[in-house]
Amino acid sequence: LAKSFRKNSFQGKKVLITSGPTYEAIDPVRFIGNHSSGKMGMALAEAFYLHGADVVVISGPSNITPAFDDIQVLHVTSAQEMYNTVHAHFNETDIAVLAAAVADYKPATVADQKIKKSEVLFNLELTRTKDILASLGEIKNQEQLLVGFALETNNAFQNAVAKLENKNADLIVLNSTQDTGAGFGIDTNKVTIFDRDGNQYPSAVKSKKEIAEFIVEIVHNKYCAKPD
Ligand code: CTP
Ligand code: CA
Repeated sequence: LAKSFRKNSFQGKKVLITSGPTYEAIDPVRFIGNHSSGKMGMALAEAFYLHGADVVVISGPSNITPAFDDIQVLHVTSAQEMYNTVHAHFNETDIAVLAAAVADYKPATVADQKIKKSEVLFNLELTRTKDILASLGEIKNQEQLLVGFALETNNAFQNAVAKLENKNADLIVLNSTQDTGAGFGIDTNKVTIFDRDGNQYPSAVKSKKEIAEFIVEIVHNKYCAKPD
């Protein structure tokens, strides 16, 4: 039976959250990025903090700052820096929530100087970044809870469950653009959370703050069900 969910539910627990986009350099003045604002990650950080957790946010470039000084924010730029910083902290982490919109590809080489324009057609060679969530799925221990996100436009449920299993996460939070009110840059959201036992937990369309509270409550139930 799940323990009751209270303000001090995560007392003494260390929560690591990735948040925001990553920027992948092309040359000294350009990068490949995305529209992630970092709002969801920071709302999650605040919700965990308000339930008593020690929270560290590993954030890509974002203007969002935490509402509480005790939330530690470590700033990174690229997917590789996010990977390195996450791995430097994962040992001491009880719960990791990977909410960042990590670039899947980066330029194969970064030009030392600004690239000059020439031909009409310009090809940029890209190479895969490391998958941070999958890398944690490979090394996590029995006590650590690993939570991923999935952003999908089609076959949302199928794709989300595949990510849950392929990356060996305990929970995956599906953010579907098929649902109304979900997406980048706006303040409302709708999610469905999947666990490894085939359960689905759908939220209503709510503010990001309320969605964060919903996610934190599901995480709490799952964490309490783990062996001590
Ligand atoms: N993720 C990660 N490192 C990456 C890519 C993704 O940690 N290099 C994490 C995200 O933070 C998220 C989850 O993996 O928690 C799923 O991200 P998403 O982009 O939805 O899925 P991908 O596995 O990258 O697959 P695709 O973009 O092709 O759908
Ligand atoms: Ca991706």
